[in-house]
This record gives sequence, structure tokens and C-alpha cells, in this order.
Amino acid sequence: MTDATAKLRIADKDHELSTVPSTIGDVGLDIGALRSDTGFVTFDPGYANTASTESNITYIDGGNGTLWHRGYKIEDLAENCGFLEVAYLLLFGELPDQDALDAWRAKVRQHTLLNEELKRFFDAFPRSAHPMAILSSATNAISTFYEAYYNPKDPDAVRESATRLIAKMPTVAAWAYKKSIGQPYIYPRNDLSYVENFLHMMFALPVEDSPVDKVVAQALNVLLILHADHGQNCSTATVRFVGSSQANLFASVAAGMNALWGPLHGGANQEVVEMLHAIHVDPDMTVEKAVSRAKDKNDPYRLMGFGHRIYRNYDPRAKILKRFADDVLGTVSRDDPLLEIANHLEKVALEDDYFVSRKLYPNVDFYSGLIFRALGFPTRMFTVLFAIGRLPGWIANWMEMHEHGDNKIARPRQIYTGEALRDFVPIAER
Ligand code: CMC
Repeated sequence: MTDATAKLRIADKDHELSTVPSTIGDVGLDIGALRSDTGFVTFDPGYANTASTESNITYIDGGNGTLWHRGYKIEDLAENCGFLEVAYLLLFGELPDQDALDAWRAKVRQHTLLNEELKRFFDAFPRSAHPMAILSSATNAISTFYEAYYNPKDPDAVRESATRLIAKMPTVAAWAYKKSIGQPYIYPRNDLSYVENFLHMMFALPVEDSPVDKVVAQALNVLLILHADHGQNCSTATVRFVGSSQANLFASVAAGMNALWGPLHGGANQEVVEMLHAIHVDPDMTVEKAVSRAKDKNDPYRLMGFGHRIYRNYDPRAKILKRFADDVLGTVSRDDPLLEIANHLEKVALEDDYFVSRKLYPNVDFYSGLIFRALGFPTRMFTVLFAIGRLPGWIANWMEMHEHGDNKIARPRQIYTGEALRDFVPIAER
């Protein structure tokens, strides 16, 4: 389909549209001259049919449930790689050889500390603050220490900022958590791996030695990889949108975090567990009732963790996680009644015509929360874990936008539906 051309007929006049080819998957129609040639704009709420960019980072085939990063299957990456290795792939386009990986890990290790002055920043939040609010605020706050690195057109500065963000995010996340439970902040330990160090800062106490559980670290590594990138999702599109104004990388990523926090996006992992918990504890609520409420168009209730803009099939990440949920829960010896409810809910929904006809399947958030919970993370940290995972994807997209010279500021049109021109009425006459 790469050499197709298209004609658009408006009021008996044909307008030829050239195509934007792809390696595989959707081919674009170039409407760049549409408005000037015809006076029309396209109308596509939620951008469901609009490609906002060309990209060579991630390919998703929603019909077949396929996800690749830089041409590699997500299943292969999740099984064989460390999170920093996948981050390298996303940022720099190729899997690193051993030397490159060692150098990259060492570079990240150099930047794990936060400036001491930032400690007071954490103290200023109330204990009850949601850690996602702290995470995005701290990401902006960190930028104030690195103003010399703001220029998006300076590749060295961008690389430095990218490394700092990836290195510091586990520290920020763990300190946001420590703040919320009133425990002292734990400093990074650079003898540990990226994931082990994060677990150490989350769960250690200064008063006793608490070795990191290798099984938990391995599981978290896979989870972070599964979240690492996902095309032009809401938060990544936000990062590009903000970055298109030439805002610095920290500011762009902080905006992406806020987009991620919403319950229809990354916030869904917290919502799923809260939904399953509500079914578990409320004697009047059953899986069948939840499904029935989700189908009722007069009820705002949705099955959280179900449905996806792109997938019309099982989300491949959810498939991996479903298997993984059983393994992890078995390995960490935790029975979770919510897993049983999740399995039952999935079965009922996937046999229900409402979900079948709309091709609504479990997405990545359906099982990830249960695994995060089994690994010992509190519910309000789930979306923070998603953010740590998604960080390389946000940065890779931001870098790609600047490297490819996409210098156009993001600025959609609108269809105005307000009042036509009216005479001004002085206040005394209104
Ligand atoms: N429960 C009940 N109905 C649903 C659901 C759901 N979870 N998801 C979609 N639908 C219905 C929707 O009401 C619509 O029905 P109709 O055709 O009768 O109007 C139809 O399915 C199509 O849905 P949509 O809202 O037009 O689809 P979308 O592409 O705009 O939205 C979504 C995608 C993920 C926001 C939506 O499926 C949803 O709200 N899911 C629950 C929240 C969730 O799990 N989000 C995580 C997404 S995956 C990870 C990530 O990207 O963060």
C-alpha cells in the first residue's frame, strides 16, 4: 500500500493527496495542503485516525496484538534484556554490545544522587500527597539545577539530560514513597543494578540491613521493559507536544507524567486494583454486576484495564503479564484473592457480546497492578512504576522529534461552534 494515491472530492472538484509510506502498517494521507487548497480541515477528535508524526521507534499492530521496539519483538526483549539495555535501544536505535552496555550503565550510575537541596523540596509536600504529583513536580524541580542543558538542539546537552532523568527517576520515586510513609530517605547504592537500587531505596531502612530480593528485582525488570514505550500514546504525544515549543526535556517529560496519571491512561493500574478490591469487599458487588454496570451507557462505570485505542486483540503485554502474574504470585508465596477475581472478570467479559463486538480485551494495566502488589508496592505507587518504565520511550520520542528536524510547533485547528459576531452590550444594559 506504499504507492497508493488518493483523491478527495469536494463540491465536484478532485484534490489529489499524496501518501506517506510506512515500513509496515498504516500509510498516511498527506493533508498538509488541504486547508489552503480547499478551505477544509479534517475533524478527528482524540486523533483516532491521525498520525501526528513519522517514527522509527515502535511498531504496533493492534489487530494482531503485536508490539516491536526498533524491530525487536517485545516478547524477546522482555525475556532476554535488562531494563537499561532496552532503554539504550529506544534512545539510541540499536541494542548495545557488552562494552556499550557497561559504559551506559556506568554513566547512569554516575547520576543517581539528587542534589541535597532537593530534600527540602520533598519535605514541603503533605504526607498524603499522591506520589505522581511529587514525581512530576520533582522532575521540573530537578531541571532548575541543570539550566545549562536546556537547549534541545545541543546533542551533548540532550544526552546528558536524558541520562540524568533516567538515573534520578528511581531516587525521586523512592523518596516520594518514603515521604508518604514518614520514613527517612535512603540514598542510592551504585553497587546495585538499576532495578535493585530502586528496590533498595524503596524498602530499606537505615537501621538494618535488608538485602534486595532477586526474584522481585527480576520481575520488576520485566515489568519496566513492558512499559518502556508504546507509540503515540497520550503521555508520549504530550511530551512531543510540549517539546515542539522547544521546552526543555525535563519540562516536556514532567508534562508527560501528568498525562500518564489520568485513570484512562497509566492511572488505570491503580484503578484496576481498586475496582477488584471493591468487588472483593462489597458483598453486594459481583463480577457479573461489574460487567453489567460497565455495559450500561447511563453509568460512568468502566471495566478498568479493559479496552485500548490501538489493540483490537489481546494486548501482547497483558498476555505476558497474565502468565507472569501466576508465576510471580507463586514465587513470592502470596495468594491474592484479587487474582481470582481478575481471572473471573476477564472470562465473563470476554464471553460477553458487548466486549466481544467492540473487541475490548485486557490491556497492560489489567494484570500489572496485581503483580506490583505482589511485589510489595503500595497501590498509589503503581502509576509511578509505569512512569519509570515509560521514561525511555518519552525521551526517545522527544529526541527523535528534534533529531528529525520536526520543527513545527504542535498546534491543531478547531471547528468553531460558538456565537457568530454580536454587538457588544455595555454592562449596564446586560
Ligand atoms: N469498559 C466498558 N466499555 C468500554 C471500555 C471499558 N473499559 N472501553 C471501551 N469501552 C466501550 C466504549 O464505551 C465505546 O462504546 P460505544 O461504541 O458503545 O460508544 C467502545 O467501547 C469504544 O471505546 P472508546 O472509548 O471509543 O475507545 P477509546 O479508544 O477512545 O478508549 C480507552 C480507549 C483505553 C480509554 C478505553 O478503552 C477505556 O476507558 N478503558 C478503561 C481504562 C483503561 O484501562 N486504560 C488503560 C489503557 S492501556 C495502557 C495505557 O495506555 O495507559
